[in-house]
Amino acid sequence: MKNHNEKAKFQYKLFAGVYDLMDLLFVTRKGNPRLGLARHIPNEELSILDVCFGTGNSALAIARKNDKNKITGIDLSLEMLAVARRKIKKKRIDNITLHCMDATHLDLQQRFDIVTTSLSLHEMPPAVMEAAIGEMSRVLKPGGSLYIIEWNRPSHKLGAAMFNFFPYRFEPRGFGDFLKIDWGAQLKKSGISVDAIEAYTFTKLIIAHKTMDEQTNA
Ligand SMILES: C[S@@+](CC[C@H](N)C(=O)[O-])C[C@H]1O[C@@H](n2cnc3c(N)ncnc32)[C@H](O)[C@@H]1O
Repeated sequence: MKNHNEKAKFQYKLFAGVYDLMDLLFVTRKGNPRLGLARHIPNEELSILDVCFGTGNSALAIARKNDKNKITGIDLSLEMLAVARRKIKKKRIDNITLHCMDATHLDLQQRFDIVTTSLSLHEMPPAVMEAAIGEMSRVLKPGGSLYIIEWNRPSHKLGAAMFNFFPYRFEPRGFGDFLKIDWGAQLKKSGISVDAIEAYTFTKLIIAHKTMDEQTNA
């Protein structure tokens, strides 16, 4: 995990300034997974944790729609969080709190109604990913919702060819295996049950909920 963390910190120190260019992929509102995620979340007094917040593109889509949500974001990279802070200030959003923190050791004093994570798990080696999902489940209230946005290779030929150029070529070794993950089986290991999977541009939104509480077995 230490290796992964050092690598991620270094990588995002270099790319924080240009990271948001990636969202040019999501040009249509219908195909944008961040807007798709936001549509699922009601504007109510809900506590939301966004894990691997990055520059905040998913959480900002939620916060711009829902001023009643209380959003906490965590990320390892100070540089990504600095970009996020500038955007939050510019858009005058006041319902997001940020912490520099490791997804595999969530040091948070509360549990959340909703946990989200976007385009983060595929960058983690399997053991780190499992630890991060375990932590997300631990801090989620029983019955609480988990939303995961991840890459998804389109089924049509042209889309698949484009996907094989970007993002595929730029992702870490093991990305091919990651794309084949059976999310139902993977999340079940952490007490999470998948309810639906929606398709967006080059991505999918996994909608799931926590079925039991590890501490109480309830
Ligand atoms: C591809 S970016 C995704 C950022 C954002 N969620 C998005 O959808 O654009 C991956 C992010 O995960 C963060 N990250 C990677 N490993 C992490 C860990 N163990 N704990 C917290 N953040 C981590 C990186 O610093 C980076 O900001």
